[in-house]
Amino acid sequence: MKIMSVVGARPQFVKLGPIARAAANHSDVEHVIVHTGQHYDPLLSDVFFRDLGIPTPDDHLGVGSGTHGRQTGAMLAHMDEVLEKHQPDWVLAYGDTNSTAAAALAAVKMHIKLAHLESGLRSFNRRMPEEHNRIVTDHLSDLLLAPTDVAVQNLTIEGLGERALMIGDVMTDVCLATRDAVADDPVQLPSGVDPAQPFVLATIHRADNTDDPARLAAILGAMKAAPVPVVLLAHPRLVALATKHGLNLGEGSLVASEPLAYPQMVRAIMASAGVVTDSGGLQKEAFLLDTPTTTIRTETEWVETLENGWNILDPELTQLADVMVRPIPGAQRGEPYGDGHASERAVQALIDHA
Ligand code: UD1
Repeated sequence: MKIMSVVGARPQFVKLGPIARAAANHSDVEHVIVHTGQHYDPLLSDVFFRDLGIPTPDDHLGVGSGTHGRQTGAMLAHMDEVLEKHQPDWVLAYGDTNSTAAAALAAVKMHIKLAHLESGLRSFNRRMPEEHNRIVTDHLSDLLLAPTDVAVQNLTIEGLGERALMIGDVMTDVCLATRDAVADDPVQLPSGVDPAQPFVLATIHRADNTDDPARLAAILGAMKAAPVPVVLLAHPRLVALATKHGLNLGEGSLVASEPLAYPQMVRAIMASAGVVTDSGGLQKEAFLLDTPTTTIRTETEWVETLENGWNILDPELTQLADVMVRPIPGAQRGEPYGDGHASERAVQALIDHA
């Protein structure tokens, strides 16, 4: 049986890592990897393949950046060719990026079976490009691999329950394994930030937070006024927009840094006193690594992180100064994101439903 994974952006490489490993454990499974080229900077792409031991992609579409329409359209145009060449039994689409939606649409148009990994997540925020991509991909897919019970409920409400399978969260697989591997590694922080003293780890890249200069200035201003150093791991989108609008990423408590590779990121989250972010994946990684998070968004898809205050939503920045460093909640957590074996279940599900 042949599975074609289609990935293109950083969070998808993290999910591909455990899937590639699980697929390699089945001698009767051929796993083909297609990289759309949505993320092309080495720090957003190559280092993830290297650190997570992912085989080099079989095909690279080289699409790069662009408006949503141009980027998605370019991927679609190239996908036909690779689907014809490889003739997979399954296309596996990951998460919620433009690469996800392009893979989904290309596969179903060629009558190739489509599975969606991390299916059923909803922000219910129709402004988010990721929300459009999730909805389209879920409704097109033959098999919906859901990470949580809440995701299965969302799919059921949309009439998709019969195609849904709860497998757990594959990011949990790789996060927990990496945690154990890096526990004794040094923490990589910019010079001047002492990892032994409290610091906050931050990322901001969502269009709703970066594209309006006044909004971005307010977020950066709140971080500059923080009581402890805030290490801002700057996504290229953030750097480009801050430069365009003349906003300084290195004033006050704010210290800008390049994005971290995955193992160093896990290590830095573990060492930090708090995380401030608008990333979906980072909210959940911080939760799994026992680090309180403040999310600069009106909602989260990973609602389980909100229980007992592990994660606090602060879109208006009214609480940030008080909560970005806070004690870890005392209450015990269950395992809402699974047991660390979701990727094995995903591959088995594709075999079972081939
Ligand atoms: C994409 C995903 C988002 C995910 C994020 C993780 C969509 C709609 N969004 O957002 O869900 O959380 O990836 O990082 O697919 N750029 C570079 N180098 C790169 C990639 C991007 O400089 O390697 C710059 C370009 O200026 C580009 C901008 O970043 O225009 C935005 O990149 P894009 O891929 O469109 O979306 P992300 O913001 O990365």
